[in-house]
Amino acid sequence: MKFLGEHRKEEIIQKFARYISSAKANLFKSVEFDLVIGKREGIWIEDIESGRRFINCHSNGGVFNLGHRNPRIISTLKEALDELDIGNHHLISEMRAKLAEFFIKVVPKGIDKVLFLSGGGEAVDVAIKIARAYTKKKKIISAYGGYHGHTGLALSTGDYKYREYFLPLAPGFIQVPFGDIDYLSKTIDNDTAAVIFETVPATYGIAIPPKDFFKEVKRLCEKYGAILIIDEIQTGLGRTGKLWGIEHFGVVPDVMVVGKGLSGGIYPMAATCFQSKYESVFKKEPFLHVSTFGGSELGCAVALEVLKISSSPEFLKHVNDISRIFAEEFEKMRRGFGEVLKEIRQLGLMMGLKFKNELWGPLMSKACFDHGLLCLYANNDRSVLQVLPPLIIQENEVKEVVSRLTKAIETALDKKYQLKVLSSFLKGQTKNYLEYIRSLL
Ligand SMILES: Cc1ncc(COP(=O)(O)O)c(C=O)c1O
Repeated sequence: MKFLGEHRKEEIIQKFARYISSAKANLFKSVEFDLVIGKREGIWIEDIESGRRFINCHSNGGVFNLGHRNPRIISTLKEALDELDIGNHHLISEMRAKLAEFFIKVVPKGIDKVLFLSGGGEAVDVAIKIARAYTKKKKIISAYGGYHGHTGLALSTGDYKYREYFLPLAPGFIQVPFGDIDYLSKTIDNDTAAVIFETVPATYGIAIPPKDFFKEVKRLCEKYGAILIIDEIQTGLGRTGKLWGIEHFGVVPDVMVVGKGLSGGIYPMAATCFQSKYESVFKKEPFLHVSTFGGSELGCAVALEVLKISSSPEFLKHVNDISRIFAEEFEKMRRGFGEVLKEIRQLGLMMGLKFKNELWGPLMSKACFDHGLLCLYANNDRSVLQVLPPLIIQENEVKEVVSRLTKAIETALDKKYQLKVLSSFLKGQTKNYLEYIRSLL
């Protein structure tokens, strides 16, 4: 059976618009971002019709940490298909137990229970459920500009622009500026069930917190009997050069959420892991959270292989070696383009380029696209271009990324190009958009 290339690209786009989302199809058309993914391998993705190749530095926020179609993951899934299926989420399972045992060996010491779910938002929902059920308190504190998913409780921790459509807003959710301990200390109180932060908020523009931030957060949580939930969905599994981003900050969270890369880019899988005292929540009602596809046995086989690869010292050494090369290259780039490139944000291969203003993220996303690089701006701080290559990227490929990024900045500096890209990007969003563009560029 043929899975790719049966239809012409235009036909695919039309079917997508007709049966899935005309809004998305129109948006991509209007900004000339016309990629339909065909072949994919390692760090590369190819357009289905033109065969144009892109280096994937979006990686779906870490889904493709191990590259596209990683051979070890593929052969694990193929082997698993000879014996397993999804299993039954109500019952005890060998594969789930096996994965859990390995998981607990590699998570920060003190965390010793894990539940497997089907996606990141669901895993965050479970973390918040645990916090509220355990503490019997209501308030959940999260960061402005943070992102924890679009499911029920996770949505309520996120940006207002995604919640305002679904009124009434869930009560008890409060946001604070990320990295601001004074603000947090004035907000947290005895009615706080949990504080939830990403270790490095990706959608907020790869904001690296001060070194002692999480220690202070943990201290405040302990003082008020609140649970610290750390979202490692993007920062986990080696992205920052340590297996878990939070290890950089010397803190063990009460609850930690993992997703994206745990799938190996092949089979959806997420996890909520926690200190065993919180298991009491499930003692009276073991089925307090059930998830038909959560912890699918096929997914467990894949996730186990992902964890084995990602937790190995050689793998983490590779991430650190590569991130040093990026750091050197980015510093040169910052010096060369200081007029527009304001700051390099980097923790391992969790990287962001902060530009002059909020138009530069979209502008650079398009310029990168035109130079065969898939890099997207951070939606809650559009001055930042996220650079999240697969962690398996090799040294010569880093040079290629840097060369394409450099060409993209040169292209983006061209005034005609700026007006063309930004007028299509902003059309319909800002009344006097041309004046707005001119005022910011
Ligand atoms: C930090 C973070 N948390 C949670 C989620 C939600 O994960 P999912 O899309 O699998 O529900 C995302 C997804 O982008 C994320 O980046």
